Amino acid sequence: MQRVPLVLGNWKMNGSAQANEALLQGLLESLSPEADAALKQGELQAGVAVPAPYLFQAATRLRTSGLFWGAQDCSDEASGAFTGEISASMIKDFECQFALVGHSERRERAAETNSLVSRKLGQLLSQGLMPVVCVGEPLAEREQGSAEAFVVEQVRAATKGLNDQQLASLVIAYEPIWAIGTGMSASSDDAQSMHATIRQELAQQSQSAAQAVRILYGGSVKAATAASLFAQPDIDGALVGGASLDATEFASIVQSACPGAQSLH
Ligand code: PGA
Repeated sequence: MQRVPLVLGNWKMNGSAQANEALLQGLLESLSPEADAALKQGELQAGVAVPAPYLFQAATRLRTSGLFWGAQDCSDEASGAFTGEISASMIKDFECQFALVGHSERRERAAETNSLVSRKLGQLLSQGLMPVVCVGEPLAEREQGSAEAFVVEQVRAATKGLNDQQLASLVIAYEPIWAIGTGMSASSDDAQSMHATIRQELAQQSQSAAQAVRILYGGSVKAATAASLFAQPDIDGALVGGASLDATEFASIVQSACPGAQSLH
């Protein structure tokens, strides 16, 4: 099956109104005409997950572009007395196409569990938003040879109870924790092997949905490494942290995923 390549930037807690303006402007100017056309025709998808206070700015700046914008997290509740939280309907209000859930930094810092991640995902689906579910093992699990079992459990817990249509609409981002922000990207072969394992796990629930789900790789993705990752059959794009804060670097990663830029899929 032909899956539309997807490249998302994750700004994390970086930026300011002024810096974002320059970054978004720079990004729009750096995209090649081919990538821009592919984005506008839906042959390629790309976007940025911005800090919530800047969703309005992202919407204003990107509305007429082919780029998506989204949030980095969402509440597991629909509305109510949950100080500081942001609901899926609020995210939708800012015309976001997606939100991240279960990023390892939230699993670690905010003690997010698999079941909380699954409830957040449900909130996004109820608003018709595309959940980008982040999974990935810590270094100790990789060293013990239990990385696949760890990630499969995260995927299973997040997708439990979803129907085939809901499952097919998910994006999964495989981000080994030891590769995030460290400059130590997984090799494209290791990443491919985990992506194939994730797809096999999804196929236990639905063959057709497993073929439709986009599985992104994240963890120190750079322009120099993107093409070899994207050449793998089960790597459908990337979730990019640090490199997404550099307009030309991120534009170059997006371009590497452009159909025709490589001989993949
Ligand atoms: P990185 O972050 O590209 O800076 O490693 C990826 C992420 O955490 O999404």
